[in-house]
Amino acid sequence: MAVRPRRVAVIGAGAAGAMAAIFAASGDAETLLLERTPDGGRKILISGGGRCNILPAADDASRRFVTDSSPNTLRKMLRSWPLREQISFFEKDVGLVLAEEKETGKLFPASNRARDVRETLFALARRRNVRLLTNTLVIGLTPIRGRWSVQREGAPALETDAVIVATGGLSVPKSGSDGLGLALLAGLGHTVHTTYAALTPLVGAASPLAGLAGISLPVTITARGPHGDAEATGGFLFTHRGYSGPAVLDVSHIAVRSLGETVPARVMVRWTGRDASGWDAALRAGGARTVAGALRGELPDRLAAALAHLSGVDPARPLAKLPREERLRLIETLVAGELPWTGHEGYAKAEVTGGGVSLAEVDPRTLESLRCPGLFICGEALDAFGPIGGYNFQWAWATGRAAGLGAARVPLSAPVRSPSE
Ligand code: FDA
Repeated sequence: MAVRPRRVAVIGAGAAGAMAAIFAASGDAETLLLERTPDGGRKILISGGGRCNILPAADDASRRFVTDSSPNTLRKMLRSWPLREQISFFEKDVGLVLAEEKETGKLFPASNRARDVRETLFALARRRNVRLLTNTLVIGLTPIRGRWSVQREGAPALETDAVIVATGGLSVPKSGSDGLGLALLAGLGHTVHTTYAALTPLVGAASPLAGLAGISLPVTITARGPHGDAEATGGFLFTHRGYSGPAVLDVSHIAVRSLGETVPARVMVRWTGRDASGWDAALRAGGARTVAGALRGELPDRLAAALAHLSGVDPARPLAKLPREERLRLIETLVAGELPWTGHEGYAKAEVTGGGVSLAEVDPRTLESLRCPGLFICGEALDAFGPIGGYNFQWAWATGRAAGLGAARVPLSAPVRSPSE
């Protein structure tokens, strides 16, 4: 008797879903990629400022992923597809030329067009016979006698041997991810760790630092809150509403999670490469040079003046007449100045969602649910996110591939009823 092919439904044609579909189809499964928007891959299009920072150029152990599940399990999942193999896959199988941006250690398509990433990835999926069904909103998933019924809005349900949920989190809802997938998974008995906006800009408080929109500089920033600490060195950007840039985004989750707790997180900035003793020597130099003059060599003028005001120091004061208390206050501001913040820009601007399905509830090799056989979960729907730098796509590609390979190997049960899609 001829063996019928396995049928796999992948829900969500984002980064993780497209990769999952490619690998499920490579294992010979008849693969359907169900996407609610008219096209899919919308986050790929807006990523990296329209250039798509597709991966980091090198593994950097100091760049930490964040999870409320086991960090060891997270690492195991991420390493299931080593970075160099991912790069080679994009160059050889997807056919995309990649180029490293040396200053940041980020990989982009050489064309600098995010659209090329989406188009080449989707083209590979088509070459592997993946069927993309757009404008298809999945509203329910039900296990039936060893198979799955996938309910669609306004269309008959599909029956499949395996389902891969790659519906993302809640960030940038207009890209298609609004948390519905997480609700479906919770309904199936999965633990969804509390979700929160991450890699999102902070909103500033009224302070001398307001009104500096457009100024950017490299800093080191530290956030300390009830859910832990984070430190990042990199670009800082003053916006019309507060603060952004890679360094701010990388620590923003500590601030976000502290709202609603009794004590909000403290966010401290070292504004220059100088430490306290370096600034002490510079400010003790004395002479007719003013405070503003001493700061100007290291900082943009308007920021230098604002930091002096924030410390209660007159920027026009000659260094020779700077009292010790004022000097110490100024040094404190320069090396660990508290950033006045009141909130954040939320999911509307968050690059990722923190929290999600507990990593303890999936097999770390195949990403099959330990609660529902034949159900696989990948990408941002899982409880993990990484820093700015291509790490979130690295997670989406690695987990998408593992889920696709896993789904293509599920045991076959009774024949699937004839498709009615
Ligand atoms: P993603 O959210 O991308 O995809 C989910 C898909 O599922 C969507 O297409 C959605 O429409 C669909 N869907 C949801 N529910 C559904 C349902 N019920 N039925 C059918 N379809 C459904 N990362 C990085 O590494 N480098 C970068 O340069 C950037 N830059 C960047 C910029 C901006 C502005 C954002 C918002 C994000 C980034 N990121 C990034 C993060 C990166 O985009 C993100 O981590 C991945 O796209 C997550 O991929 P997923 O496939 O898991 O979810």
